[in-house]
Amino acid sequence: MLTSDGDTWLRQRRLSQPAFHRERIAALSGQMAATTGELLERWQVYASSGQPVDVAAEMMRVALAIVGRALFSIDLSSEAGNLVEAMLVVLDHIVWRARTFGMVPGFLPTARNLRSRAALRTLDQAVYALIEERRCAAAAQADLLSMLVAAQDPETGTGMSERQLRDEVITLLVAGHETVASALAWTWYLLSQNPQAEAKLQAEVDALGGRAPTDPAQLAYARMAFEEALRLYPPAWIITRRALADDELGGYAIPAGALVVLSPYTAHRDPAFWQEPECYDPERFSPERSAGRPCFAYFPFGGGPRLCIGNTFALLEAQVVLSQVASRYRLELMPGQSIEVEPGVTLRPKHGLQMAIKSR
Ligand code: HEM
Repeated sequence: MLTSDGDTWLRQRRLSQPAFHRERIAALSGQMAATTGELLERWQVYASSGQPVDVAAEMMRVALAIVGRALFSIDLSSEAGNLVEAMLVVLDHIVWRARTFGMVPGFLPTARNLRSRAALRTLDQAVYALIEERRCAAAAQADLLSMLVAAQDPETGTGMSERQLRDEVITLLVAGHETVASALAWTWYLLSQNPQAEAKLQAEVDALGGRAPTDPAQLAYARMAFEEALRLYPPAWIITRRALADDELGGYAIPAGALVVLSPYTAHRDPAFWQEPECYDPERFSPERSAGRPCFAYFPFGGGPRLCIGNTFALLEAQVVLSQVASRYRLELMPGQSIEVEPGVTLRPKHGLQMAIKSR
């Protein structure tokens, strides 16, 4: 869906859309909270021992487990480490090939190519096994995987090939976890550097008195804290389009076939739209302060027909993870941790994010 166009894209988008309806997503909050609960338990060891943990890697694990359960009813928590590693190797390889214009052919047995092929095998094995299992299952599950497996072309009556199914599953796993995970990692970093914002998030979760929120509106500050992190560190930091015909944009001639690159990262820091753009200030996203802002001053989820299908899912997930973690722990950046942005498929903290987990 993410990388196709025209009829293929439309068919895949229509097919997946029902799995992302608002009510369906809202019903997933309990499941998201349970998965986050496992993370909180795991962190108890770090909180007791004082040993720091790489919060960027931890967010990857929890986000992969959440998306695996929600869309495919699979428990990735035990395999998450392997799969996260394999996905990162493959994604980094794709970015590296794009940067080097594919000058080293993929078939050559270089160390990099071999590593990437092994990682792809790990992913393929896991995903093909998942599809096979679902085809053989006696009862269909009410999730996206069952919808994809059962989908038939209305004209030919044929279903998706194994390869198509595998592509969709991998796309959703990748698009659905690294984005959320990197934005969550940046949120924890930004909160650790902005004690006032951190205190407001804590006050919001404390007001719930240990009860799970029944309505995401009760987590308005958590949402703003995440939206503001998405402004400063939008995971999809560039979005590209190929011009189909000659055009003109803002006085620039765009010839047919040209590659047009849009950058949420630069738009989100443009002083024409944002006061003190470099400051972390979640309340910019309050309804009052958002009023009147041009809608494409902020587009972490893209826009138009290709708007991110998972945007509601991502925001709910972020609210759940942020509030659950903040209710039990405070995360402190380790002294000496160097912070640099690595612009890969998403924007990741280049040297990881070593933080101390403090019990509250
Ligand atoms: C903070 C988290 C996320 C961000 C920043 C993000 C960002 C984006 C952006 C910018 C696009 C549009 C790309 C383009 O126009 O070329 C997109 C598309 C997409 N996203 Fe997300 N995304 C996030 C979370 C998710 C989640 C949780 C899922 C699935 C569970 C998901 C699945 C997809 C898919 C399948 C597409 C392709 C849609 C299409 O082309 O019709 N994303 N995302």
